[in-house]
Amino acid sequence: MKIAIYPGSFDPMTYGHLDIIERSSKMVDKLYVSVLINSAKNPLFSIDERVSMIKEMTSHLDNVEVTAFDGLLVDYAKKMNASIIVRGLRAVTDFEYELQIAQTNRIVNPKVDTIFLTTSLEYSYLSSTIVKEVASYAGDISKFVPKKIADAVYTKLNIKR
Ligand code: PNS
Repeated sequence: MKIAIYPGSFDPMTYGHLDIIERSSKMVDKLYVSVLINSAKNPLFSIDERVSMIKEMTSHLDNVEVTAFDGLLVDYAKKMNASIIVRGLRAVTDFEYELQIAQTNRIVNPKVDTIFLTTSLEYSYLSSTIVKEVASYAGDISKFVPKKIADAVYTKLNIKR
């Protein structure tokens, strides 16, 4: 059984993330979308909020399960019997950071491999940070995130539209 983990902050989940989830879930038997519990990052949404948003947006995918994790990703992969880590690559600017993480993870646990999916072109500019930035100025984020998530972002930021 091929088990993979797609880890991230997902603060909030964007259409770019959803694209990676839909495509990678077809390649494996089981995909865990796993939200990093990282109190240092000062996120907009709580872990529970992020997990439930992703659950709702991926409910059409039978082999996808949404979880939260703490600590080292490779340790969590081992715990979940996952041998694959999935990450999306948007542009060359992502590459150095992703390579560093993937290589570190491989040194720590060589049994877990990272695979990269290139983000679909229409989402190659997109990030959760950009979504929050545009929303904070009452800009339209409907092309970046599903409607429910957009509404939640505006509410959190106290933006009336
Ligand atoms: O969505 P993000 O913030 O780019 O995701 C980063 C993530 C969650 C993949 C990365 O920060 C991570 O795996 N953190 C867990 C701690 C860990 O294992 N670090 C070792 C890699 S250097």
